[in-house]
Amino acid sequence: MPAFDLSGRQALVTGGGQGVGEGIVRALAAHGAAVAVNDLHADRASVVADSVPGATVAAFDVTDGQAVAEGVAAIGPVDILVNNAGVPEGMGVGPFADMDPGEWAKYVDLNLYGVLHCCHAVLGGMRERGRGRIVTISSGAGVTGINLGVSLYGAGKGGAIAFMRHLAVENARAGITANCLALGLMDNKANREVTEHLARSVPVGRLGQPDDVGAAVVFLASDEAAWLTAQTINLDGGSLPS
Ligand SMILES: NC(=O)c1ccc[n+]([C@@H]2O[C@H](COP(=O)([O-])OP(=O)(O)OC[C@H]3O[C@@H](n4cnc5c(N)ncnc54)[C@H](O)[C@@H]3O)[C@@H](O)[C@H]2O)c1
Repeated sequence: MPAFDLSGRQALVTGGGQGVGEGIVRALAAHGAAVAVNDLHADRASVVADSVPGATVAAFDVTDGQAVAEGVAAIGPVDILVNNAGVPEGMGVGPFADMDPGEWAKYVDLNLYGVLHCCHAVLGGMRERGRGRIVTISSGAGVTGINLGVSLYGAGKGGAIAFMRHLAVENARAGITANCLALGLMDNKANREVTEHLARSVPVGRLGQPDDVGAAVVFLASDEAAWLTAQTINLDGGSLPS
């Protein structure tokens, strides 16, 4: 059997309609998983699902618990959950001192409550079947302070990291692993000058690509990674000390 074979596994990737999530969808499918592509925007999810063998569309808002429960029920048993949706619509940057309290909730709703809703919806089935893989896409902003005006985003990302550790140890004997990937600077298709400037600060010398994240998720989702749980792995070209 080839390594990291995900044949027969059903995956759900939230926010899979573009960017990092699309890379995760493609990597899981390439290793044999059937992938449900979630996104707030059904059209984005459809474009990705239409080009990936065995992929289906699962459009719902991960911050809406009822919608998540119904969406997951429609997919059927989920073996691999990837909590990737994490950039709220209209995300801005700026120092905490200048933020209106009304702006706080959207970061925590998506990055913490969205993760809680999705984990809750799949966990019972995973426990019954005695196996499951949960991967949450976090950020360096959830691990360390960064002076870029992303404090509430970082708070949501850090909260999810803490939650995932608890989830992992509570469910370790049930054959379920739960881990986070704390991403560093990704290539967000900014203009070339900005991209090259940022890339110089990364020890590996380039920004992250969706494929880099997809490869790490495939490993964490595999049977081979059964002993790797309750961890946050810095996936960042060497930027943060591990
Ligand atoms: N891009 C980076 O530089 C970077 C760095 C560190 C971490 N990350 C993390 O990687 C993940 C993916 O980032 P990206 O840059 O690919 O984001 P993106 O904004 O390009 O794509 C995310 C997708 O999530 C969807 N989405 C947003 N809110 C949703 C909701 N409530 N329910 C369902 N889907 C929703 C969006 O419609 C979008 O298609 C996020 O968790 C982000 O925080 C990104």
